[in-house]
Amino acid sequence: MDAVQNYIKTNKDRFLNELFELLRIPSVSADPRHKKDMLTAAEWIKQNLSISGVDTVRVYETAGHPVVYAEKFVASNLPTILVYGHYDVQPADPLELWDSPPFEPIIKKTEIHPDGAIFARGSCDDKGQVFMHIKAFETMNITGHLPCNVKFMIEGEEEVGSVNLEKFCLEHKEMLACDVILISDTSIIANNIPSITTGLRGLSYVEVEVIGPNKDLHSGVYGGGVANPINVLCAMIASLQDEDKRITVDGFYDKVIELEEKEKKAVNSAPFDIEEYKKSLKINAESGEKGYSTIERTSTRPTLDVNGIWGGYIGEGAKTVLPSKAFAKISMRLVPDQDPEEITDLFKKHFMKIAPPGVSVQVRPHHGGHPVVTPIDTPEYMAAHLAMKDAFGKDPIPVRGGGSIPIVALFEKVLKVKTVLMGFGLNSDDIHSPNENYGLFNFYKGIETIPKYFANYTSLKK
Ligand code: BES
Ligand code: MN
Ligand code: MN
Repeated sequence: MDAVQNYIKTNKDRFLNELFELLRIPSVSADPRHKKDMLTAAEWIKQNLSISGVDTVRVYETAGHPVVYAEKFVASNLPTILVYGHYDVQPADPLELWDSPPFEPIIKKTEIHPDGAIFARGSCDDKGQVFMHIKAFETMNITGHLPCNVKFMIEGEEEVGSVNLEKFCLEHKEMLACDVILISDTSIIANNIPSITTGLRGLSYVEVEVIGPNKDLHSGVYGGGVANPINVLCAMIASLQDEDKRITVDGFYDKVIELEEKEKKAVNSAPFDIEEYKKSLKINAESGEKGYSTIERTSTRPTLDVNGIWGGYIGEGAKTVLPSKAFAKISMRLVPDQDPEEITDLFKKHFMKIAPPGVSVQVRPHHGGHPVVTPIDTPEYMAAHLAMKDAFGKDPIPVRGGGSIPIVALFEKVLKVKTVLMGFGLNSDDIHSPNENYGLFNFYKGIETIPKYFANYTSLKK
């Protein structure tokens, strides 16, 4: 593996410069104004995969944003690893909260990243982590250390729910056939505490609208006489959780699997400092469902959160107006065995039921995703454990993740293949927030760890 190390060292700066090029493309999947940038990003990745040594690479059109697919065949008696990732990013708004422009990557030193971190939208989620795989592949390929077959599927709609990817997978089942799916789109506990993600929460996402009088009204002339949709919406939302922060949607917990005592212990044994947590977020108290720890609340328990709420007058100064409509976007993170479609239905029924007289309510479902838990007693997982142990000099800890990657459950259903979530970000990297960043340490550690995964997996499978 010395040749691998040397190659990475020699090409360090070029790897970073190439990643900067990718980060400069504003591939925001949610915003139709960036449709062309999505194609530009896909083509850029295609080009980079191509010069990195794949046999074939192609940009596939979908009903949404394109998918980049590539492969390198070594031998038919060797296993095939499929690398999945996404080149789309979250919107950079609010722009004024960024210390430097989101699509002009720069390196800055921080307390957490004393060796420097790359600041840009997508630096960690997920362009930086996808690019580690491309450069790890280049390294293995050129140094003659590629031990097995490899396929890449890099999509452009993860941040908007991967709605067109199921069809793509169904239509290209044979092309995507593989032994394991490897994803770097999650985090580790800290740079000196490696961990491997062993589960993801599912998601149900809805937009609600509360409609009152047929037009905006003078809040003096009509105020007190009719239901105010914003007041009503706030009261309805407040009632969705009780004083113990349990979700009141009828049937919400019916399919939730409680952890066994042993699992609960394991989950809570991961290093976690609540004081550090509060300090890093500048809050004076944590908050969440009664009877559960912060680790559980953010990984193995379901949640309900308002992501945005609007209506009425929000301009300068005061306008006395009683609005006609109020809106909110609400997400529910789900855990095994909750089903996103069922939960969306339950939510809809409940929300309609609690609407008071004087308003009407609409609930519009957005994308969703199933929760997953990945086994740890498999060669797929063991290969990651050993790779991380070797690269970090410490045993990695299995940790259930709180975020969602909708396609993982689908891979299991459609391709019948298990996924390994070997990510290298930190929870403090501010993904989806202003000033997203990714440590140089993490970027290079990823490139170093991935070839170890390939080697371990191949020999464990032999
Ligand atoms: N990479 C994240 C998911 C993630 C982050 C998992 C950190 C574990 C730790 C992914 O890009 C993401 O943001 N997913 C969305 C899914 C949604 C848009 C369907 C999420 O979790 O909100
Ligand atoms: Mn991601
Ligand atoms: Mn994301």
